Amino acid sequence: MSVDQTPVETLTEDEAVAELAHLAAEIARHDMLYHQGDRPEISDADYDALKRRNDAIEARFPGLQRSDSPALRVGSAPLPTFSQITHARPMLSLDNTFSDEDVGDFVGAVYRFLGRLPDNSIAFTAEPKIDGLSMSIRYESGRMVSAATRGDGTTGENVTANIRTIAEIPQQLPPGVPDVVEVRGEVYMAKSDFLALNAQMEAEGRPTYVNPRNTAAGSLRQLDAKVTASRKLRFFAYAWGEMADMPADTQFGMVERFRDWGFPVNPLMKRLSSVEEILAHYHEIGLQRPDLDYDIDGVVYKVDELALQERLGFRSRSPRWATAHKFPAEQAFTTVENIDIQVGRTGALTPVARLTPITVGGVVVTNATLHNEDYIKGIGNSGERIRPEGHDIRIGDTVIVQRAGDVIPQVLDVVLEKRSAESREYVLEPKCPVCGSHAVRERNEKTGKLDSVMRCTGGFTCSAQAKEHLKHFVSRNAYDIEGLGAKQIDFFFEADDPSLQIRTAPDIFTLKARQEASTLTKLENIEGFGKVSVKKLYDAIDGRREIALNRFIFALGIRHVGETTAKLLARAYGSYGAFEAAMKDAASLSGEAWEDLNAIEGIGEIMARAIVEFFKEPRNVEVIDSLLSEVRPQAMEQVASTGSPVAGKTVVFTGSLEKFTRDEAKARAEGLGAKVAGSVSKKTDILVAGPGAGSKLDKARELGVQTMDEDEWLALIGG
Ligand code: IVH
Repeated sequence: MSVDQTPVETLTEDEAVAELAHLAAEIARHDMLYHQGDRPEISDADYDALKRRNDAIEARFPGLQRSDSPALRVGSAPLPTFSQITHARPMLSLDNTFSDEDVGDFVGAVYRFLGRLPDNSIAFTAEPKIDGLSMSIRYESGRMVSAATRGDGTTGENVTANIRTIAEIPQQLPPGVPDVVEVRGEVYMAKSDFLALNAQMEAEGRPTYVNPRNTAAGSLRQLDAKVTASRKLRFFAYAWGEMADMPADTQFGMVERFRDWGFPVNPLMKRLSSVEEILAHYHEIGLQRPDLDYDIDGVVYKVDELALQERLGFRSRSPRWATAHKFPAEQAFTTVENIDIQVGRTGALTPVARLTPITVGGVVVTNATLHNEDYIKGIGNSGERIRPEGHDIRIGDTVIVQRAGDVIPQVLDVVLEKRSAESREYVLEPKCPVCGSHAVRERNEKTGKLDSVMRCTGGFTCSAQAKEHLKHFVSRNAYDIEGLGAKQIDFFFEADDPSLQIRTAPDIFTLKARQEASTLTKLENIEGFGKVSVKKLYDAIDGRREIALNRFIFALGIRHVGETTAKLLARAYGSYGAFEAAMKDAASLSGEAWEDLNAIEGIGEIMARAIVEFFKEPRNVEVIDSLLSEVRPQAMEQVASTGSPVAGKTVVFTGSLEKFTRDEAKARAEGLGAKVAGSVSKKTDILVAGPGAGSKLDKARELGVQTMDEDEWLALIGG
């Protein structure tokens, strides 16, 4: 949407009320798109225009500022804007069991609790544990009225509009159902739909998603239900909340009713009575797991008879009548065909095993990480032997690979009996395989221990590092330029024609001009690009010339600076200029600028050092300078003025607190617009000192910082 052009001066009060409401909703929606791992719909410039319009209207009508005004948010932390639904019955979680023995214990405990002998007279259901998101859907007089996520179990988010877009879930139940029905189950994305979505993303040069579960979650937590509708989500019903009448007296019977009412139910659910039968079904489902079109992570057992469920009741968070028997991480045997070295963005050399392709839990695995030199040798992080006999991993070895969840597959162990005479020991050379620079294992200054990672010392001269830097720069949470993904970076990086080359981040922004001036290769004539996609790419690049400060800092690719740290830095320094100047002032790793950096809660010394070192490298500053002639990182509102007495103040808590946990005190203070720091500096406004306060209190007194005890603090913030 674009900004309303009506001059603010001519708005009536009613118009202002309506527009502020609209702006609050619209800005919150874009915040969500931006922050919740999905792609923004508008440029940062358009977003800023919305915010400015909001500010201008509020400036003219201060009395109309809304409690959810976008101007009141600290930085750009998103506020969840789904309304809340309190569950009529809490949504509980399940206890986990991991071994056959645990399952025996669970069944035994059920009999014991009920005062019965374990005579196989109690029936249990066994069904897959679906790896999705649990959902409670409420029907009144047969019509869907609301749907809520699990949330904290007591209240969840109202996602009714989104759930209505899922075709598999009935909006209307057949006649004769109880007046109030709450059906619970799992929303998930099928593996095949996930793969198709990712193939499409890749074809469009957009970043791909990690796994079906996260994608389903992201798709559902959209304030705009149209986005949810465009993703194929599915559902399995397996439980219930409030029911005006019980249509069955067993777990199995309830699920059958759900099926009759039109809900999808899982076909692998069975009713069984002995531990042996239960375990056999568990192994059967485990065998089918790779072929199922949905991710599962275990099998859930429930006491079938509802009267017994009632008697067994609940512990604090989970029922005594159910347990989830988890699957072990998936493993398979294959051979190591070769070992290659991958050079990362920060120069880390990671050995990667090239494997004979093997299916592990439905996914074909061809590579597995070997972590580092020591791991290959069989030595752990603290020098201990890993793997039973501490043997090394060799090229030609038969190995066990494991894939757990989303993590990169690992080589767990070697099958020594299968080691042949031809297998070759692997030695990691202290040399970058790409640029030939010397590679070193740094010594950790704090612990004095050798870092397990070997790093290429080539820095910017190493083309592998430069390329990985660029891939990071355009990645989803950094610049996220549509049409410029990892594949395209490879192409532009390798291009011979200078008018096509992208070797550093600023080159991205000069591409269009260089192309327009060039008489050589035109991008639109290159296979895979066309006139339309080239125009789109240039537009996408131009759309990123203004960018949020935290994204800009994250995109720089400073070692140890992830998204969270980038946000902390953006919030603390407010503008790029202030940030860079402070980092240069901190170059000696001492003095005020250095202390301020270390005082930011969430930034530790290792990070602080890495950031300062980054700015000491002239080449980094040079590249950033040319980048800044192309792009404008947006200044960030440092702290919202909420009118609270501590808004904008920097507060440090020390000593033991008696009325709050440290986390709670921090959250309260931040909620009131204060910044909470970890150590005392000249910038500290208030030190809250509980019993046992020591050096921080001394320092605060020395610097003349206001100090108070917990009660005084509470009085100040109003209880
Ligand atoms: S029964 C009172 N059955 O697992 C217990 N849960 O760890 C109600 N889940 O939050 C849950 N498949 O999201 C149940 N067949 C299944 C399930 C299942 C997946 C999830 C559910 C729950 C979590 C508990």
